[in-house]
Amino acid sequence: MSVDVSQQYKTSSNLKTRANLHRRYANKSWFEWAFKQMELQENDKIADVGCGTGWFWTANQHRLPTGLEVSLLDQSAQMIAEAEEALVKLPAIKQVTTCVEQAETIPFEDASFDVVMAMHMVYHLSDTDKAMDEMRRILKPGGRLIITLNSPTNLQQVYELNSRVFDVAPIDPSVVIAPPNKIAERLQHRFNTLSLQTYKDVYAIDDAETVFSTLTSYPPGNEATPQLQEQLMGEITRKLEEHNGTMHTPHEVLMFVAEAPRKG
Ligand SMILES: C[S@@+](CC[C@H](N)C(=O)[O-])C[C@H]1O[C@@H](n2cnc3c(N)ncnc32)[C@H](O)[C@@H]1O
Repeated sequence: MSVDVSQQYKTSSNLKTRANLHRRYANKSWFEWAFKQMELQENDKIADVGCGTGWFWTANQHRLPTGLEVSLLDQSAQMIAEAEEALVKLPAIKQVTTCVEQAETIPFEDASFDVVMAMHMVYHLSDTDKAMDEMRRILKPGGRLIITLNSPTNLQQVYELNSRVFDVAPIDPSVVIAPPNKIAERLQHRFNTLSLQTYKDVYAIDDAETVFSTLTSYPPGNEATPQLQEQLMGEITRKLEEHNGTMHTPHEVLMFVAEAPRKG
């Protein structure tokens, strides 16, 4: 089931709806974990591709090393505006530049960034190879490309409910579009050094409405008839009842770190 990216992310509203599930049930901070793995250095020049609202930066504002120069790129003008408003307030960030553009056509100079990050966005690319070539091109020698995406077991029990009502696989839809092993192959093709780390949490979900809002924030749930949406709510409620009001499901995210060769 494809997503119309320009509509889905025209504003941050759908993203915020999905973030509610994480805010309500996370036992630890995904953004803090991601920050620790990234090992950002003082004065790093960073491109945040598909930056969204810039939550990574605000969540880590008290941990950031100083003197950072951050270039925000997103296909959505409203996302860029929200992210810029948030980042200019952060003292650790010396300079913020913005760019409303597709990741497939990045207008930044060759070899100009220490870090390029693309968090939870590769499954939206219309041309993954082109975007990866672009992200590789703008990295300095020794620079790192950091890609995060959901693991195949992410929110397994939630997506299993979705497949009871809709004609979709019982797994995270982003994994169907961009299987992590295919992303790894593309990275191996462009970089000699590649590492993979996994973030793991378990959510104890007890609110049907939060699950329903998540599953109806993107296709097919958001376009479904009221009857099908009602059926979905029924499935969620029944599942919670079967499990004495609480269903447990993993929240699992993968982080790839690929390093461009150093000169000499
Ligand atoms: C799920 S959000 C992730 C936002 C942010 N990186 C985060 O982790 O919080 C995906 C973002 O990628 C952007 N996006 C999707 N496809 C894109 C493309 N081809 N080029 C640039 N941005 C894109 C969307 O507009 C959206 O803001």
